[in-house]
Parts: sequence; C-alpha cells; structure tokens
Amino acid sequence: MGLVNLRTVLVKAREQGYAVGAFNFVNMEMLQGILDAAVEAHAPVIIQTTEGAIEYAGIGYLAALARTAAENAGIDVVLHLDHGKHLETVMHAIRHGYTSVMMDASDRPFEENLSITKQVVHIAHMVNVSVEAELGRLKGIEDTLRVGDAQASLVDPAQAQAFVRETGVDAFAPAIGTSHGAFKFKGIPRLDMERLERVALLTGIPLVLHGASSVPADVVSKANAYGAAIKGTAGVPDDIMKQAIKKGICKVNTDTDLRLSFTAGIREELTKHPEAFDLRNILGPARQAVKAMVLNRIEVFGSAGKSSAS
Ligand code: G3H
Ligand code: 13P
Ligand code: ZN
Repeated sequence: MGLVNLRTVLVKAREQGYAVGAFNFVNMEMLQGILDAAVEAHAPVIIQTTEGAIEYAGIGYLAALARTAAENAGIDVVLHLDHGKHLETVMHAIRHGYTSVMMDASDRPFEENLSITKQVVHIAHMVNVSVEAELGRLKGIEDTLRVGDAQASLVDPAQAQAFVRETGVDAFAPAIGTSHGAFKFKGIPRLDMERLERVALLTGIPLVLHGASSVPADVVSKANAYGAAIKGTAGVPDDIMKQAIKKGICKVNTDTDLRLSFTAGIREELTKHPEAFDLRNILGPARQAVKAMVLNRIEVFGSAGKSSAS
C-alpha cells in the first residue's frame, strides 16, 4: 500500500467523529516510532515535515523514508507538508511525492492568503494532492487578560466560510487559542469552542488543530530528572482535545510531545549509561518512547482500528 492523500483519511474521520494524528518527524527513528504505533493500533496516520525539517534532513531523504514506511505498513499513511510558507517548497514537495500540502500564508493579508491558496489548490488537485490552509494566527489565550490582542489573532468564522468556499481547500486550520510549543497557556487551559463550532458549521469541511500537543507532566518530569531544565509547561488537556474532536477537529498536529519523549529517552539512556556511545543503544529506547507517546495520542483521538487499508 502506498501513500494516500489527506482527503481520503479526513472525510471518513469527519463522518465518524474521530481525529487522525498528524505527527512531525525529522529523522528515521522518530518516523519509525510513529509508524510502529500506528500499525499496532491499526490507525490511519499523517506523517508531516516542516520546511525546517526539510532544510535539516533534505526532502529526498524524508520522502524516501516516508515511502518506505508506508509501503509495508498495511495502514493508511499520508505524507504532508506542514506549514509550507513558500510556493516553491509546496511545488517541491508535490514533485517528491507528498500526497498533501499545507499552504500557510496565514501571516499575509486575507486577499493574498486566499489568492495563493487558490493557486495551490488548482495545481495540487490536478495531481490528486490535498491542500490544507490556515486563517488567524496561533497564540495562547490567557485567562485573565488582553482579550483584544488574543481575539485579534483568532479566526473570523465568516471569513473562514468565504475562504473555504473560494479556495476549495480540503482541510482548514482555524486559530482557536492554541499555540506551538510546550508553553501554551498561562492560566487555565481554554480553547474557543464556540468559535470552533461556528467554523465547523460554516465551512463544512474537516478542521485541523495546530499546536495540539498535550505536553504530559510525567514526560517533562522525566526529562528534568535526567538533566533537562524545562519549566512552566502547559499543553492541551485530553478532555479539551476530545471536546474539540466532537466539534469538528479531524486532524491533530503533534510535534512537541514527540520531541519531549524522544529527548527524555535520550537523556535517560545517557544518564544511566554514561559509558554508552553506540547510537543504537541510545536512539532505540528514544524511538520506543515516541511509539508509547503516539499510542497514547491515538487513544485520545479515537482513531485506533480506523485504517481502511490492510
Ligand atoms: O509547527 C510545527 C512545529 O512544531 C515547528 O517545527 O521547528 O520544524 O519548524 P519546526
Ligand atoms: P505542537 O507544538 O503543539 O506539537 O504543535 C505542532 C504543530 O502544530 C505542527 O504543525
Ligand atoms: Zn502547526
């Protein structure tokens, strides 16, 4: 079974009320941890790389790893470009066999975002590649304050409706109060669920939650116990994640949780075995830690057993 496109996995997820995990990778071990978990759970999975990952590893390596991973997995695997900021990167990804791309022009004026996204949809759909786009800028909402600032960065549902209708995108990422990284909330974690509900109603297509890592306290504590200094973290709690899925989130972007698990695993090995220098003994357990994290996320997203491929 080769790679499938985003639409293939998200339409079913939306109909059945679960979400597909979209996991970022930058190297072989992370990818193997993700795939091992998805295969074990028989869950569809989206593997994605940012422009930064492409710069780090090279698109040829990443695409070849992804193709190899998907070939014998027996589950639906999507290879997605995450946060494609430049048209050239998007085209490059399509040429390298990515089956889905995000055109992220969310930092540009609405009309410009709309026009470039429309162009990408036109080209991508000719070769059966799906397209995701975003409106609003990701920032945290803080319990107490500056509603003005925070509101300004969230998606406008009426604009979302016009954007989706005009561009023909397959998936849409509304900014509803999450942020990337391990420090998402200052006060009580809160997402703008009413806004999400309104966007779901007005757009009628699968929605994507960026900045959706859970940042588990036990993983952060483990990293800190083995020498990290990561303080004041806050992620999206599982109950809030489940509510968001009920309201239309079908793709859940997760990077930070994997970075934390992987590095905590490396730190543990190096601390417990200061004599170690065989990479397999150091990266192997870190790969297992990624697998455990992904299995946990799949459980929360409700996607176990949902892969159509076998
Ligand atoms: O938005 C996705 C990532 O968490 C940021 O990844 O450092 O590879 O750009 P990056
Ligand atoms: P996290 O930083 O919450 O993992 O978000 C990742 C993401 O949105 C990738 O696009
Ligand atoms: Zn993101």
